[in-house]
Amino acid sequence: MGFLRGITALSKLRSRLGQQTTQLGSVRWLQIQSASDLDLRSQLKDQIPEQQERLKKIKSDSGKFQLGNITVDMVIGGMRGMTGLLWETSLLDPDEGIRFRGLSIPECQKLLPAAIPGGEPLPEGLLWLLLTGKVPSKEQVDALSKELQSRSAVPDHVYKAIDAFPVTAHPMTQFATGVMALQVESEFQKAYDQGIPKSKFWEPTYEDSMNLIARVPVVAAYVYRRVYKDGRVISTDKSLDYGANFSHMLGFDDPKMLELMRLYVTIHSDHEGGNVSAHTGHLVASALSDPYLSFAAALNGLAGPLHGLANQEVLLWIKSVVKECGENITTEQLKEYVWKTLNSGKVVPGFGHGVLRKTDPRYTCQREFALKHLPDDPLFQLVSKLYEVVPPILTDLGKVKNPWPNVDAHSGALLNHFGLTEARYYTVLFGVSRSLGICSQLIWDRALGLPLERPKSVTMDWLESHCKKSA
Ligand SMILES: CC(C)(COP(=O)(O)OP(=O)(O)OC[C@H]1O[C@@H](n2cnc3c(N)ncnc32)[C@H](O)[C@@H]1OP(=O)(O)O)[C@@H](O)C(=O)NCCC(=O)NCCS
Repeated sequence: MGFLRGITALSKLRSRLGQQTTQLGSVRWLQIQSASDLDLRSQLKDQIPEQQERLKKIKSDSGKFQLGNITVDMVIGGMRGMTGLLWETSLLDPDEGIRFRGLSIPECQKLLPAAIPGGEPLPEGLLWLLLTGKVPSKEQVDALSKELQSRSAVPDHVYKAIDAFPVTAHPMTQFATGVMALQVESEFQKAYDQGIPKSKFWEPTYEDSMNLIARVPVVAAYVYRRVYKDGRVISTDKSLDYGANFSHMLGFDDPKMLELMRLYVTIHSDHEGGNVSAHTGHLVASALSDPYLSFAAALNGLAGPLHGLANQEVLLWIKSVVKECGENITTEQLKEYVWKTLNSGKVVPGFGHGVLRKTDPRYTCQREFALKHLPDDPLFQLVSKLYEVVPPILTDLGKVKNPWPNVDAHSGALLNHFGLTEARYYTVLFGVSRSLGICSQLIWDRALGLPLERPKSVTMDWLESHCKKSA
């Protein structure tokens, strides 16, 4: 029923798009563009004054409107559930999952241009959507692909900075260092030093962001080839789109792997503003640090095991299951293994979420990809078995708020299938994808003139005496 309703909604949406209408939920200006309108920067430039006025009006009309109460639990509990950030590019619903500018993942899969008919969305299309709120035409996406290619040259000193590390250094450390080294070419920093007025901040931020997005796959692929393939670097293929070229530079040219990479980059790009990496990027950028400094900070947050490193942890954990119990593990053996993990004081990686309360739709679309392309893969079958076994056990624990799998529960099994078996590298792939979301929002931070972030902190003394007085 739900599925049919989804299909009907989608066909209605499609016909509305065909009629060039402009409203879908929160997407205020969604409409198909004319083929000649290919320049992303000028699209943004047109939109910015309207959005600035919109924010001004929200401030003047509703600035004092209350959005809920802050409890002591929220202050102690990592600000869970506290509404405190403006983030335009995506919104996360606890039950439904992520929507990019109002579009769910299945809607993006239907509506965004693909490289092959009926194929996975091109990440460039998602980038266009995140930045403008509009679904781009194939021509616009192709123009953006070319633009990113033209910006992708990485200066030599970046490689030298990475080469200063032993190859044993964690790939995320090498990757984040590469991003820091790219910072030397920041247009924002140069413009700021020359006294650019605040109203123009978004322009060099746009340049930096597009350069950064274009260059991170090159840096990331360099790290991979350096660490795992004796430094035999594969150069960029200018005929390929963003996701396919990234896969090619890593050394994977199977057409199915190219599709997987397009899907991977698209679904990992953004997850509203409060997660550790997005929030870190936004926070650091609020000090007017340029996009490279902000994004490198975000990557350091992504490298934590409760956040982006979970994809590494999942595959290592799954492989440890196989090592101990073999590939034909029974349901009973798997239950025992899960309990063994929990009883040793560890979390089951790939399950649970700070906001989501249902199966992550990013998990679901990867599962659909696996069912289509690799249904007999033994690790995929184990991942499917975990889907049955883990949620009831986590529910039995009685404290886990969301027992369902998240995005990281699935990605490793897919990558492993196509030969990208080095789990320690996985978070770098996540990092490349996140550049799309974090940088898109950062451009809007500057365009809207969002201020320095500075929440109030308190001590335990303060909490005790405040609560005593208020009791
Ligand atoms: C994602 C995560 C960090 C969210 O944390 P959170 O918002 O604090 O989650 P909850 O409110 O449900 O946590 C309540 C308790 O359940 C535990 N819990 C949550 N998920 C768990 C899991 N997958 N395995 C075991 N215990 C888990 C927490 O550790 C916490 O225990 P504590 O009170 O003893 O500290 C958490 O679910 C987790 O550690 N998952 C595994 C790592 C992972 O997959 N991360 C990627 C996220 S996309």
